[in-house]
Amino acid sequence: MKLFDVYPLFNITPVKAKGCYVWDSEGKKYLDLYGGHAVISIGHSHQYYIDKIIKQLSQIGFYSNSVQNPLQQELVDKLGEISGYNDYQLFLCNSGAEANENAIKLASFVTGKKKFISFSKSFHGRTSAVVALTDNPKIVAPVNETDNAVILPFNDIETVKNELEKGGVAAIIVEGIQGVGGIRIPEQHFIEELSFMAKKYKCLLILDEIQSGYGRSGKFFAHQYFNIQPDIITTAKGMGNGFPIGGVLIHPEIEAWHGMLGTTFGGNHLACAAAIAVIDVMKEETLVQNAEKTGNYLIEKLSELNAGFEIRGKGLMIGLEFKQPVKEIRNLLIEYGIFTGVSGQNVIRLLPPLCLTTSEADEFLQAFSDILATVSV
Ligand SMILES: Cc1ncc(COP(=O)(O)O)c(C=O)c1O
Repeated sequence: MKLFDVYPLFNITPVKAKGCYVWDSEGKKYLDLYGGHAVISIGHSHQYYIDKIIKQLSQIGFYSNSVQNPLQQELVDKLGEISGYNDYQLFLCNSGAEANENAIKLASFVTGKKKFISFSKSFHGRTSAVVALTDNPKIVAPVNETDNAVILPFNDIETVKNELEKGGVAAIIVEGIQGVGGIRIPEQHFIEELSFMAKKYKCLLILDEIQSGYGRSGKFFAHQYFNIQPDIITTAKGMGNGFPIGGVLIHPEIEAWHGMLGTTFGGNHLACAAAIAVIDVMKEETLVQNAEKTGNYLIEKLSELNAGFEIRGKGLMIGLEFKQPVKEIRNLLIEYGIFTGVSGQNVIRLLPPLCLTTSEADEFLQAFSDILATVSV
């Protein structure tokens, strides 16, 4: 057998990681400013996280959702407190796409409607309902194509109003900050109007915080920069610091019935232990505040470079848009021992662990300015 070859791979084999650093099989050390697609929140191989998972595994690693699991309640309590959404309900699942898929299903159950609105450059996952709402025709298979998904221009409230007036819309789904689309922040007027319009037309507002949530933006959820209260919030990535777990936060007025949603693995003991450890560390080490502080520092220093690229972002979710493709810059960063991400051809994405220090940020800034001096930008 061989692996189904769907990923273009770098010729790097990570074998060890700690904090914001990763080592490959040749012993080369890398500063990780990408966190494996925004997944590493509290830092690699945090001792508290390791201990929690090992202890849980030695007690009980898994049982199904047909018995009591007090770890789920502990996670609900801690997530409610740290996010400020104490009165919401939580459905636990295993990934970002699954969280969004359940959010879509829930909105359709609750409203009895089946049309959904999303926005240009959005990414909501690769499963059936959400890939139809993702603005990338290349990953939409014929079976996923549906007239129920309407993708409208981002930050254009008039087109949303026109669509809502036609009727039949169950929900609007929008990222707290667009990630895969190149780190794009919704305009305040746009997102606050979306919330208003959703109420007016009796549809739900779903905030996809899978990449922008869990402290990454400098607030627990990126939409908390605005004056809105979504009906549904989805989360994954940073929630488990690499352990697969996703969650759907659900408005208190939405009522569950037995069998409405379900999963075999979602909310299992090990996943809960990992997610509880993440919140404990985030609180203890004030990582949301650190994301804001180090993020502001990085953005300030990057602007001082004045090197002709546009900087977008909040906290430790930063996009650098160049006028030309960034492949060469990114490859040179790897040679220097720094991981970054990209979006499309022209955007470098920085999504480091939330424990990044200013001296680690300086390490990147030094390498980056050296590289910019050698390439034509
Ligand atoms: C905003 C957003 N939503 C959903 C997803 C899908 O998450 P997953 O890959 O865990 O299914 C992603 C993944 O990049 C994402 O960035």
